[in-house]
Amino acid sequence: MGSVTPNRPVVAVVGATGAVGEVLLGILEERNFPLSDLRPLASERSVGSAVLFKGESYEVGLAEPGAFDGVDFVFFAATGALSKDLAPEAARRGAVAIDKSSTWRMDPSVPLVVPEVNAEALRGHNGIVACPNCTTIGFVMALEPIRRAAGLRRVVVTTFQAVSGAGRPGLDELSRQQAALRRGEKPVVEKFAAQIAANVVPLCEDFLDNGYSSEELKLLHETRKILGDADLDVTMTCTRVPVPIGHSASVLVETETPLSADAARDALRGFPGIVVVDDPGNCVFPTANDVRGRDEVLVGRIRKDLGSDALWFWQVSDNLRKGAATNAVQIAETILTY
Ligand SMILES: NC(=O)c1ccc[n+]([C@@H]2O[C@H](COP(=O)([O-])OP(=O)(O)OC[C@H]3O[C@@H](n4cnc5c(N)ncnc54)[C@H](OP(=O)(O)O)[C@@H]3O)[C@@H](O)[C@H]2O)c1
Repeated sequence: MGSVTPNRPVVAVVGATGAVGEVLLGILEERNFPLSDLRPLASERSVGSAVLFKGESYEVGLAEPGAFDGVDFVFFAATGALSKDLAPEAARRGAVAIDKSSTWRMDPSVPLVVPEVNAEALRGHNGIVACPNCTTIGFVMALEPIRRAAGLRRVVVTTFQAVSGAGRPGLDELSRQQAALRRGEKPVVEKFAAQIAANVVPLCEDFLDNGYSSEELKLLHETRKILGDADLDVTMTCTRVPVPIGHSASVLVETETPLSADAARDALRGFPGIVVVDDPGNCVFPTANDVRGRDEVLVGRIRKDLGSDALWFWQVSDNLRKGAATNAVQIAETILTY
């Protein structure tokens, strides 16, 4: 385990200039994370630029091994390749690397953690802790209370993922395409598999040989690892929608024992980090827009399947906050309490 300074850790953020990195700095500030020094790091493109933290300007340095000397926590919010090279360097120097990329998530020696669900996995870490995919986090947050109440037999999920899930380049592509449509021009497609403005794209990331996408299999395997159930029957379709921030998911859950919609609502309400927003009589349900800027996962449209004992629900979470930065900061906070 890395030797973490318990009271006033030194924190480095790799990718401090990116979509997740910027939100992460804001969350460290909002939650008054007890850091004694901050090192924002990025590539040569951004070295020498500045980020603001608690009203002060911090110069961005280069993400390289020497930048981790004397650091206690390194948040990685850059690229998978960089995490692969540099997370072991951070751990070797006694820091805990908390990685937002997919590089370490399925490594059996690396805990994959959503603190409300499996904080105990942090015990005995080897200096690298992985943060799940932004879609997985909201999904397992909503599944776990149902699992505890009635067990899980099979889960069918369709996601509706915001463009910021693909970082700043994703946000920029949506803006550029929307502007092109307003000018009556044909949008240029670069980042996503098809035009994203005024469209829904049934592919996130790349297709695999089995017809699923890499994003879909991340959702499957990460969910199984976090819930500690290697055989959990999950099937999924991940789509990209022209929403800036906020991932949504439509979920059908078959439970081991029957669970009424009211009992599911109670189980979800009693779980930390979940807010039930569900009043069909008054047309109340959660949307991606409602969750933007919030750390909770919102759940609504909870109802029985018409033809079986299964339950439907709709779940939304801010992919940059609970789906990424907040979850990473919660991991560091949990480690500080050990
Ligand atoms: N967006 C989400 O919803 C989300 C959710 C969960 C996980 N993630 C993961 O979080 C990570 C960051 O994603 P993002 O959405 O914030 O991406 P982003 O907006 O594209 O930002 C990427 C950041 O990484 C830095 N970077 C890129 N290459 C680098 C290099 N070779 N050396 C040092 N720094 C480098 C960039 O710095 P420069 O300014 O120097 O280019 C920038 O700060 C990715 O691994 C992503 O998969 C994202």
